Amino acid sequence: MNNFTFHNPTRLVFGKGQITQLSTLIPSEANIMVTYGGGSVKKNGVYDQVVAALSNHKYIEFWGIEPNPTVETLRKAIAKGKENKIDFLLAVGGGSVLDGTKLIASGILYEGDAWDLVLKGGYGEAIPFASVMTLPATGSEMNSGAVISRAETKEKYGFFNTFPSFSILDPESTFTLSPYQIACGVADIFIHVVEQYMTTPRQSRIMDRWAEGILLTLIEIAPKIKANQHDYDVMADYMLSATMALNGFIGMGISQDWATHMIGHELTALHGITHGHTLSIVYPGTLRTLKEQKSEKILQYAGRVWGITEGSDDERINRAIESTEKFFRSLGLLTRLTENGVGEETIDKIVERFNKAGAAYGEKGNVTGDVAKQILQSSL
Ligand code: NZQ
Ligand code: ZN
Repeated sequence: MNNFTFHNPTRLVFGKGQITQLSTLIPSEANIMVTYGGGSVKKNGVYDQVVAALSNHKYIEFWGIEPNPTVETLRKAIAKGKENKIDFLLAVGGGSVLDGTKLIASGILYEGDAWDLVLKGGYGEAIPFASVMTLPATGSEMNSGAVISRAETKEKYGFFNTFPSFSILDPESTFTLSPYQIACGVADIFIHVVEQYMTTPRQSRIMDRWAEGILLTLIEIAPKIKANQHDYDVMADYMLSATMALNGFIGMGISQDWATHMIGHELTALHGITHGHTLSIVYPGTLRTLKEQKSEKILQYAGRVWGITEGSDDERINRAIESTEKFFRSLGLLTRLTENGVGEETIDKIVERFNKAGAAYGEKGNVTGDVAKQILQSSL
């Protein structure tokens, strides 16, 4: 196990009716801006609960943070925040609203253009912010990451800001998610886990078991969610899986991959494909391409997650990769590029971008433009 420091300062407030806690969790003297997406919060009662909880607070609202939040929209929010001397932000919605708000939190204190902050990639000054998270997927409710797009140039990059001071998660708020959003959410969580797990073998037994626990949970609950997405306990497990997959708990002292995410972001930037869906397309290709490098870990995954224990190493590895792709398809996602209208031209564009940036992703730093090409070609 590598040396590490673990510090996650986000207070997690979980369960039915917990949105009322906003009234005491946000300082009464705060000058708040509440940020929202396109209106889903008005359909699931979350908006009414937030308004009721903030009845004794001073706040303004900013609407319209879109999926894959753009710097173009966020610049407007930053200007509004500066103009109104906002000193506390509350993000209410999915990962995009939260990520966008992380940029606003830094942008309010920054003199230059917000895109500089994204390109800098690292921690910056930020005003305090918190969230009411309504879409289990990104883990943004308990991590410092944010992924921002620039529509003008079709670029999408991640950066690390500060953690939410608290996040409220009410599983009932997920009852209104569409089946497609749930499929993408489950795929995103699954891939967050394997980006941290399917790397160097024998680094940490405890990290391995936690990761496998989340994967097994997702495989068990996916059909149950399909059968009844109003089952509170199932949705609670879905919601907590998302948080635990990307809040640092399963990533202590181990090497990490993230190449699939970097390729997936390009598919979103160039084609607008939903984040979790891009990952379900790329990941089986990553495994097919890097199966020798990852063989020991794939064999462990085959046995412990899929119960594949018979056959030669090669057979078990191939069956584990097939099971992974089948799982994504069972969610209702089309896992091939061509099925999603993406062809060789896009592969060339991504390779060109990776080469220009000197890309070297993955736990071994060997996912270059050429390797990304093999991954994408095996996903056609
Ligand atoms: O905008 P509204 O009207 O709120 O509707 C949203 C949006 O249209 C809707 N939605 C959210 N909660 C709902 C709901 N609809 C019904 N009921 C609810 N309870 O869902 C749509 C998609 O929302 P979005 O926030 O875009 O989805 P998600 O949470 O998957 O976030 C995706 C973004 O997060 C980034 C992705 O790249 C993408 O930009 N990621 C952020 C990460 C992080 N911060 O650590 C890590 C991830 O790997 C990911 O890259
Ligand atoms: Zn993701």
